[in-house]
Amino acid sequence: MKEKRKKILFVDDEINMLEIVSEYFQVKGYQVATAINGQKALEIIQQDTIDCCFTDINMPEMNGLELAERIRKIDNSIPVVIMTGNPSLDRAIKTMKNGVVDFLIKPLKLDQIELCLVRVLRERQIFEENILLKKEIEHKQRLEKINIELTNKVEELYILNKIMSNLTAISSSTEIFNIVVEMTREIIHADESHFYLVNDSVKKPFKVASSLSTKNHPDTINADMINTSGLAFDTDNNELQAIEKLILEIVSDEIPLLISKNMGARGLPENIMSFMIVPLKIRKKVFGVLTASVKQGNARFDERDLYYLSFITHNTAYAIENLALYENIYENLFSTLYAFVKALEARDIYTQLHSDRVSKIATAMAKVMGCSSEELDIIDFAGRLHDIGKIGIRDDILLKPGKLTKDEFEIIKEHPVIGAAIIGQLGLWDNEQLIIKCHHERYDGKGYPAGLKKEEIPLLARILSVADAFDAMDSDRAYRKKMEIEKIITIIKDGAGTQFDPKIVDVFCKLYQEGKIINDKNNSNVSTKKYLIN
Ligand SMILES: [Fe+2]
Repeated sequence: MKEKRKKILFVDDEINMLEIVSEYFQVKGYQVATAINGQKALEIIQQDTIDCCFTDINMPEMNGLELAERIRKIDNSIPVVIMTGNPSLDRAIKTMKNGVVDFLIKPLKLDQIELCLVRVLRERQIFEENILLKKEIEHKQRLEKINIELTNKVEELYILNKIMSNLTAISSSTEIFNIVVEMTREIIHADESHFYLVNDSVKKPFKVASSLSTKNHPDTINADMINTSGLAFDTDNNELQAIEKLILEIVSDEIPLLISKNMGARGLPENIMSFMIVPLKIRKKVFGVLTASVKQGNARFDERDLYYLSFITHNTAYAIENLALYENIYENLFSTLYAFVKALEARDIYTQLHSDRVSKIATAMAKVMGCSSEELDIIDFAGRLHDIGKIGIRDDILLKPGKLTKDEFEIIKEHPVIGAAIIGQLGLWDNEQLIIKCHHERYDGKGYPAGLKKEEIPLLARILSVADAFDAMDSDRAYRKKMEIEKIITIIKDGAGTQFDPKIVDVFCKLYQEGKIINDKNNSNVSTKKYLIN
């Protein structure tokens, strides 16, 4: 392609000078424009593309320096060369300060101007090429950025979609926490992920499900649905305490936590390199927390991982609530809660199957007392979950082999309220919640938590109270052997009117006398003890 001829502008109030340079440079192949003053020069520059401007310095109205300044304001890429007949250092400095690229001293020779022109044009070309190159680089960088953003967006959509399809495929709430921890670990490449049941009533986080990287734990692929010890999977005590402390902070302020690089500031042991906790809220209240940790390698969680974790918890809560709207919800959620109780009881051989037995005895009594089938369902449910609030009690108190101190007993006394809070949060079982809350109230008003009296205590709770007391006395405890059955019956009878509702004691004794509550004395194993109930 033929190169466009360069156009030069000469500005001088001497017409002779303009004619000479014009002729000379046109012969040399340039386009030449001339102006006899600054104003005309500016008009040409505004209308035409000028590649270089030579201007005399001493001109009437507008001198060369002023012209250079005004050209710069119009187009700062036009190189301006000053021609002066009166050189001085001051003027030279001022000239260059005005953005002028060079100055020539009069009288001038044409080849001297030409040399200067060639040099200035070359510099300008380089300057323009640099600008083009810079623009090209910027364009390329912008494209790369857009590309990365697009790739990230596609990846993000893929992940969010995966989370949603995993969650919508869940048909039972019993498996939901296992799926959630497994999915969390895979999606954010964590070494461990755990779900803890905890809320403002359950003061001690209760680990419900765990997923561990097989590279860290070659023998462990999946944790059981319920991990009762809280100490399994190489989790040492310090780590557990540090995590529990952080969990309680999250439960209280409800803000997700991201520790990208663990420097020990939040008390986390150094084997955890990166850590996150996100609360899971059901009905606007914290129900539990999902945690994730990196224990090896260089990967560190960032804001994006926290976003994914929050997305998982948010949609898990939806899934739980949605499950509640469809079939099987009662059984599903009940199974989950019941599994918690079983896990609690499994830790203590003395309480194994306690809830099942209490439920059976209480249901039998309610039946005799003419309760409706709906009430029988309620007492069966409440019986099996009545001690679920013990999830929130510290192990050192709950599993203490000896007698409890007064303070420790005060803590144990919180379990009916905690249990009611857990059940209540799901919003499905108002009646059951009330029975659980009242199962330690006494007929004479000396019970807890509210000190209710007589008929203030729901009937089903009064029934449950007798069944609970009976089974407690009829079972071995860490600090005492189980009592003789005759002694138990005497204690229950003596409690009529004080601890228990007399009418219900009568029903219990009648059932016992009729042989409908039979303790299988031949089998001392608590967990296989059977009651024969019609
Ligand atoms: Fe209890």
